[in-house]
Amino acid sequence: MGQGSFYITTPIYYVNDVPHIGHAYTTCAADVLARYHRLLGEKVLFVTGTDEHGHKIEQAAEKAGLTPQELVNQVVLRFQDLWEKMNISYDDFIRTTEPRHVEVVQKFFSLLQERGYIYRGEYEGWYCVPCETFWPENQLDERLVCPDCGRSLERLKEESYFFALSRLEKPLLEYFESHPDLVMPESRFNEIVSFIRGGLKDQSISRRGVKWGIEVPGDPEHTIYVWFDALINYLTAAGFSQDERRFSEFWSQVYHLVGKDILRFHAVLWPAMLQAANLPLPRRIFAHGWWTVEGEKMSKSRGNTVDPNRVIADYGVDRFRYFLMREVSFGLDGDFSERALISRSDSDLSDNFGNLVHRTLNMVWKYFQGEVKKPAVYRDELWEKTLEEAYSGFSFFFDRFAFAQVLENIWKLVHLGNRFIEQKAPWKLAKEGEKEELVRVLYRLLDCSRILAVLVYPFLPGTASKLWKMIGMEGEISDFSLSSQISWEAGPDLYRVGKPVPLFPRIGDKK
Ligand code: ME8
Ligand code: MG
Repeated sequence: MGQGSFYITTPIYYVNDVPHIGHAYTTCAADVLARYHRLLGEKVLFVTGTDEHGHKIEQAAEKAGLTPQELVNQVVLRFQDLWEKMNISYDDFIRTTEPRHVEVVQKFFSLLQERGYIYRGEYEGWYCVPCETFWPENQLDERLVCPDCGRSLERLKEESYFFALSRLEKPLLEYFESHPDLVMPESRFNEIVSFIRGGLKDQSISRRGVKWGIEVPGDPEHTIYVWFDALINYLTAAGFSQDERRFSEFWSQVYHLVGKDILRFHAVLWPAMLQAANLPLPRRIFAHGWWTVEGEKMSKSRGNTVDPNRVIADYGVDRFRYFLMREVSFGLDGDFSERALISRSDSDLSDNFGNLVHRTLNMVWKYFQGEVKKPAVYRDELWEKTLEEAYSGFSFFFDRFAFAQVLENIWKLVHLGNRFIEQKAPWKLAKEGEKEELVRVLYRLLDCSRILAVLVYPFLPGTASKLWKMIGMEGEISDFSLSSQISWEAGPDLYRVGKPVPLFPRIGDKK
C-alpha cells in the first residue's frame, strides 16, 4: 500500500491577492518534485489549489461589488493561468468552495466531535464590531485598533466550538521524537518541538460573524474557522471518505511544502487534527524560506511585488524556474532581483549548459552533416565516475529537497563536457584526419546532452523537451524512466540531430 507512490502538496493560496513570485516559488518546487518522482516511475499525485473562504474574501468581494463566489471565480483564474504559463504539472486543483471539499470538512468535523475532540465553549477576544472580526493578540499593538479599518476594538465573548489541542500535546511530542524527519529543515523541527513543549492551548475553530464559510454540521449559525477548513484540503484531494483507492494509495505518502510563515499551522495544528482523527501523519512538512525583492519585504502597500507573468514574458519560463531553484538553498531566505536572475542565467544556462550543447551540435553538423553513429563501446573512467557521482548526488539531494545542490551536482557533468571539448579539440582531430576518435568524442558529447536533458527535465521541462528533439531522440522525454536513460550504454545507434538553435541566448549582452 502506498509503495512507489508520491503525494506532494503546496499551500492553497488565498484568493484575496494576485499571485506573485512567492506563490510561484512553492508551486515550482512542488512541480520539480512531482516531475522527478514521475521520472522514477512512481505514481504521483501533485495538488495545488485555492483557499476561498473567510472574512477577508467577504470584505474584498464587497469592495469589488461582487458576491464572494463571483470574486473567487475570477481570481482563481489568475492562479490557474499562471500555473499553465509556468508549466506546472498538477494532477488536481482543489478549491475550498467545491462541494467535495465542503462534504469532507463537515465529515471530518463530525468525526472529531464523535471522538470527543470538539466541544462548545466561549471564545473571548478583541473584536471589531463593524468588521465582525476577532483579532488575535499577536496581530495587535498597544493601541488595540482593528488592523483592517483602524477603529477601536472591544473585548467580547462569543460562543464557539473548540478543538482540544491541549490534549494532543503529549502524543504530538512523542510522535516528533520518533520522527526526526517530520519537519525539515532541522532548525524548523527544533523550533516546532520547543513551541509544543511551551504548551498548547485549545483552539477556537468556529466563527459566528463570518458568513462566507463552511457551516458547522447541525449548527448553521457557526461557520468553520478558515484554517481548519483549509488544512483539510489535503485530505479532500487525496480522496478521503470519497475515493478509497486514491486515499490508500497516496495518503501514507504525503509531503507538504509550505513557506515558513505558515509552518505552525502545518506542523502543530494539522498533525494534531490528524492524530485526533486517528489518521496517519504526513511523511514530511518542509518549510522553505522567504523571498525579498531588491532587499525589501514584498508587499502590496510598498508596491514592489513581482509579477511572475512579467518575469516570464521578459526572460522565459525556464530561466525563471532555474533561478528560483538554483539561487538559494531550499529552506533559506533569498533575494529576488533582475540583475541576479540575468547573471545567474547567463553564466549557468548560456555560458555553460547552452554553450556545451550548441558547440556539440555545431560540430556534428560541421564534421558529419548532422549524423553520428554509435562507436564500438569505449570506456572512459573520468566520464564513468562523473556520471556515477552526478547520479547518486542527484537522488541524494532530491530526497532532501535540496534543489540548488541537485542542480550544482548536474552541472559537474556540464563542466566536464566543456572541459572535454577543450582537451580533445575536435577541430584538431578533424584537421589531422582522426575520424574514429572524432566520432567517439562527438558521440560522447551527444550522449552527455541526452543525459543532461533527462537530468534537467524536472527543473526545465520545456528546454529538456526541446533538447531531446534537437538531438533526434524519439518519443517524449517525460515517457522515459530515469534509470533507463542514465548510462553511457543507453544511447541510440545513431544520432541524427537537428539544426542547432541556441537554448539560452545571453541576456546581459542585450541589456
Ligand atoms: O497562507 N517568499 O495562503 P497565502 C516565499 N491560504 N514564499 C512565499 C512568499 C514569499 N515572499 N509569499 C508567499 C495562506 N509565499 C493559506 C494557506 S494551506 C492549508 C493555507 C508562499 O496565499 C509560501 O508558500 O498567504 C507561503 O507559505 C504561501 O505562499 C502563503 O500563501
Ligand atoms: Mg499570507
